[in-house]
Amino acid sequence: MKKLIGLVGTNSTASTNRQLLQFMQQHFSERAEIELVEIKALPVFNKPESKELPESVKALAEKIEAADGVMISTPEYNHSAPAVLINALNWLSYGIYPFVDKPVMITGASYGTLGSSRAQMHLRQILDAPELKARIMPSSEFLLSHSLQAFDDENKLVSKEKIEKLEGLFEDFLTFVDIINQLNHAHEINKKEAENFSWERV
Ligand SMILES: Cc1cc2nc3c(=O)[nH]c(=O)nc-3n(C[C@H](O)[C@H](O)[C@H](O)COP(=O)(O)O)c2cc1C
Repeated sequence: MKKLIGLVGTNSTASTNRQLLQFMQQHFSERAEIELVEIKALPVFNKPESKELPESVKALAEKIEAADGVMISTPEYNHSAPAVLINALNWLSYGIYPFVDKPVMITGASYGTLGSSRAQMHLRQILDAPELKARIMPSSEFLLSHSLQAFDDENKLVSKEKIEKLEGLFEDFLTFVDIINQLNHAHEINKKEAENFSWERV
């Protein structure tokens, strides 16, 4: 069975994005082992001179390295991803490269009508940066709009259509992980390029 990470894209205690990942963890428990991972304990990124990374960052990077794929669920703050999520990705691209060639599925929930679509678009761009270089599942969006009304008391998605869509995308993601595992011919070079890439070199 595949091991996946569900990265909660917020530090909020009450979060519909966390709820969504919890729902997925339960709903797809026969199809994959999903571990929910939090980013709220990470410090604010500060470019450490020693390049020594905080233990919490290293631990998170190790989990991502070990996983077959990562699902990131993002809220939308001012038409973008929350600062804490971008903060986590900044750490995870500074001297460590756990996302290079890692299959990623993006989901998102927001209180508005567009279900975090603009945040997801930005997240896609960020994950494509040279030191992240994730393999983001293309042409797919799971947008959970009006997310405060989207779950019942048992944390189940209320909308049958949304569940069906999520089931389809999740199956696609499992296939996508297999496909990406075959697209590995340039992996070593991609990793080296990320390692050798530096914004600080003069
Ligand atoms: C600072 C701030 C900015 C927000 N901007 C947007 C926005 O641009 N679009 C939107 O749909 N919702 C916006 N919201 C409401 C969010 O939809 C909601 O807080 C969040 O996405 C829900 O995710 P969560 O339940 O996981 O916290 C904003 C909320 C905050 C606190």
